[in-house]
Amino acid sequence: MRVLIVHASRYGATEGIAERIGAILCQHGLEATVKPVQDAGDPTDFDACVIGSAAYYFHWMKKATNFVRRNYAVLAERPVWLFSSGPLGTEAKDAQGRDLLTVTEPKEIAEFREAIHPRDHRVFFGALDRNKLGFTHGLVFKLFAKPGDALLPDGDFRDWNDIAAWACNIALALKASADGAASSHADVRGVLTSQ
Ligand SMILES: Cc1cc2nc3c(=O)[nH]c(=O)nc-3n(C[C@H](O)[C@H](O)[C@H](O)COP(=O)(O)O)c2cc1C
Repeated sequence: MRVLIVHASRYGATEGIAERIGAILCQHGLEATVKPVQDAGDPTDFDACVIGSAAYYFHWMKKATNFVRRNYAVLAERPVWLFSSGPLGTEAKDAQGRDLLTVTEPKEIAEFREAIHPRDHRVFFGALDRNKLGFTHGLVFKLFAKPGDALLPDGDFRDWNDIAAWACNIALALKASADGAASSHADVRGVLTSQ
């Protein structure tokens, strides 16, 4: 079973998550191809897709949103999983006590749920290295994130166990549907040959 894993990543954190998901799917015997969204091409040749984007200012990156919108018809008829890489820090809740992974869901996800019915969308903690930031993000960081600031803390907060567990579930779901399809084909063959 061929799985396309697409990522939109500004500084590499989301790309790292996509690569890890790809490695885990391969370990489970699936044929996983990991591509940056600008090189992803047409998902028609794949049986399933995993699409992830970094979150900036409460949104997916535009190129990831455009990829999903451009491929609505193809994605709607395949199993699709979405993920976002965003919140930083070690706190599970925000200042109002709300679950951080829920409140940071990027704005596009509701639209995507309606349009393509993904099997799941997950927000993963992200990573930020202030030395790598481009001019505009660097400026935002300087203006709004003082050292020790809870809003944009510097560091790698990706939870590899959480990411691996999610990827394992994708692999198991895909293998179960492939096995189901194979056994129903075998049933049909059995019926046909017994006639
Ligand atoms: C200027 C700026 C704005 C950000 N806005 C958000 C946001 O709205 N929601 C969020 O969850 N994370 C936000 N983040 C954190 C990034 O999404 C996080 O660092 C992500 O893992 C970066 O992924 P990348 O390296 O693949 O681009 C922001 C980071 C920066 C520097």
